Amino acid sequence: MLKNWIHRNVDEREYLDYHRKAVKEYQQHWEVIARELEWFSPWTKVVEETDKAHVFKWFVGGTTNISYLALDRHAKTWRRHKLAFIWEGEPVDEQGRPKEVRKFTYYDLWREVNRVAYAMRTKLGLKRGDRIAIYLPMIPELPIFMLAAARLGVIFTVIFSGFTAENIANRVNDLNASLIVTADGVYRRGKILRLKEIVDESLKFTPSVQRVVVVRRLGGELSLTQRDVTLDELLKGVPPNTYVDPERMESNEVLYVLYTSGTTGRPKGMIHDHGGYATLLHATMKWVFDARDDDVYFCTADIGWVTGHSYIVFGPLIEGLTSVMYEGTLDFPAPDRWWSIVERYGVTILYTSPTAVRTLMKFGDDLVKKHDLSTLRIIHSVGEPINPSAWRWLFEVVGGSRAPVGSTWWMTETGGIMISYLPGLMLVPMKPGSNGYPLPGIDVDVLDESGNPVKPGERGYLVIRNPWPGMPAAPTGVWGDHERYVKTYWSKYKDLFYAGDYAVKDSDGYIWVAGRADEVMKVSGHRIGTYELESVLVAHRAVSEAAVIGVPDEVKGEVPIAYVVLKTGNQPSEEMRKELVDWIRKNYGPIATPRALFFVNKLPKTRSGKIMRRLMRSVATNSPLGDTTTLEDASSVEEVRTAYEEFV
Ligand code: WT7
Repeated sequence: MLKNWIHRNVDEREYLDYHRKAVKEYQQHWEVIARELEWFSPWTKVVEETDKAHVFKWFVGGTTNISYLALDRHAKTWRRHKLAFIWEGEPVDEQGRPKEVRKFTYYDLWREVNRVAYAMRTKLGLKRGDRIAIYLPMIPELPIFMLAAARLGVIFTVIFSGFTAENIANRVNDLNASLIVTADGVYRRGKILRLKEIVDESLKFTPSVQRVVVVRRLGGELSLTQRDVTLDELLKGVPPNTYVDPERMESNEVLYVLYTSGTTGRPKGMIHDHGGYATLLHATMKWVFDARDDDVYFCTADIGWVTGHSYIVFGPLIEGLTSVMYEGTLDFPAPDRWWSIVERYGVTILYTSPTAVRTLMKFGDDLVKKHDLSTLRIIHSVGEPINPSAWRWLFEVVGGSRAPVGSTWWMTETGGIMISYLPGLMLVPMKPGSNGYPLPGIDVDVLDESGNPVKPGERGYLVIRNPWPGMPAAPTGVWGDHERYVKTYWSKYKDLFYAGDYAVKDSDGYIWVAGRADEVMKVSGHRIGTYELESVLVAHRAVSEAAVIGVPDEVKGEVPIAYVVLKTGNQPSEEMRKELVDWIRKNYGPIATPRALFFVNKLPKTRSGKIMRRLMRSVATNSPLGDTTTLEDASSVEEVRTAYEEFV
């Protein structure tokens, strides 16, 4: 029997010994952790592969509900009056203090979620298995709607509030959602972003949507149709002590679908469930963040991405933590917004991203040092590899050389952290920039093209060898497309999960994830398929062909640059360039704004017509072209080179 280490620290030998055992006996290992949660009824089997290849069910037959785990469990205990969320809005008063701060105890949040769930059920007729989309900014109603949906067994997809009408429509249609929850707008960098208008635009293309719920963040004029209802209206007459019994969800029933970009096609809807997902979050909150009752936790991500789902909403609430959540951006009203938050609320755990750190570093150390950050005890980053200077700055300037700084590797697909230092379980010596060891129970390897482990220190492809709770869930891994699930993750290597990342394992067994091995960019930590932007470009009336590549950027990690072939009759011009850049901003979102857009007569392609982005990247990074034998027309590369060199 494996011991339950979750509540105590172990030394390195014990840990490595446990690690070896936990990989072999992973079922038992995860079962021990799952038992720490509450189940309405026990499981009959820890894990089994379903009749859909590589789709596994965890804690089969066990019933629970993640909203119960996140709320009811605490509302029944002394944590009832503990703060779950401290939220602050963007607008500030003359002293620079936030005008609005909203605080929710576990009891408040539980009550509010119950009221919303009740209204969703009785006034909107939503029931278990129905699908809704949530297009909300960083306001408390976002976690409230996620938890209320979970409570009813209603499947939700959260759409990042920086996305456009087109992104909304694609996701809503893929999920066949009957309802969209949105807000009239949100404050962002001193401006107002009108979200409801973007939803209205998307509705022209979303026949499945019957109702729209609008949260009033801004107030003032708002034009509503028959289809729309405000949250205030919806909650009218719902008593404060309303209680809705949480649905008894079988562990593997769908909790949410979250869309993420890949190499080809539209974003894939990754499925996560109730039981296995909650188990992984519980383990990682304990091990990676060492979550304790006196912590104040601050994850700087947006809930629109998986980091926010797992580590702002579900993970911290399952642990009964107090979290800080904020509206706006890291640099408004001034670039010390975060440090001011850390100081004012006494934040002890900070979870952030390399791109944000690089942005903030530029403003100098004084903005950090004017705040007392001595409460910080653990810092982690996520989203892309952390470069040495960003690591050092986080460690020395932000953490005062007291707090360990880790780089947690995982992805939308994995549901939670897979590779990380575990200050909560033990401290192995840290190597700046490394991710550390895989979590106990996770069997990670680095392979060459033919599937053999590479030598220590050599670069290869990252794979996960065994299933884990929180992995893409039943029924199909990818919503509505099991084939795509198998093709994307389980086809490069037989029976291994292929992550799409390059990595190195060093001679001590530490993992160093180096970045994407496919045609996916990481722009400020956001995952954007080059193919997606190309599709947006060719949808423009003047564009015949387009190729997009990611090039290194000091702050954002990577930024897109685009090469465009115009249709005959259209002339390259500065206006056309601007028009196409705007087109991307409008049809994909400002996060994908290309740094440069070039007009060429021809794209470098193979004889079979595939765009050779690899060559274009070599040109842009000034590195050797490598094998060019499959290139159809050598002059195309020269054209790309000339265009690029004229630009730099
Ligand atoms: C991709 C997944 C998981 C939350 C945020 C991103 C890259 C993520 C690290 C890290 C190096 C990292 C990988 C991965 N990545 N964390 N600590 N070190 N690379 O989720 O949008 O699904 O992106 O982010 O390339 O494949 P995502």
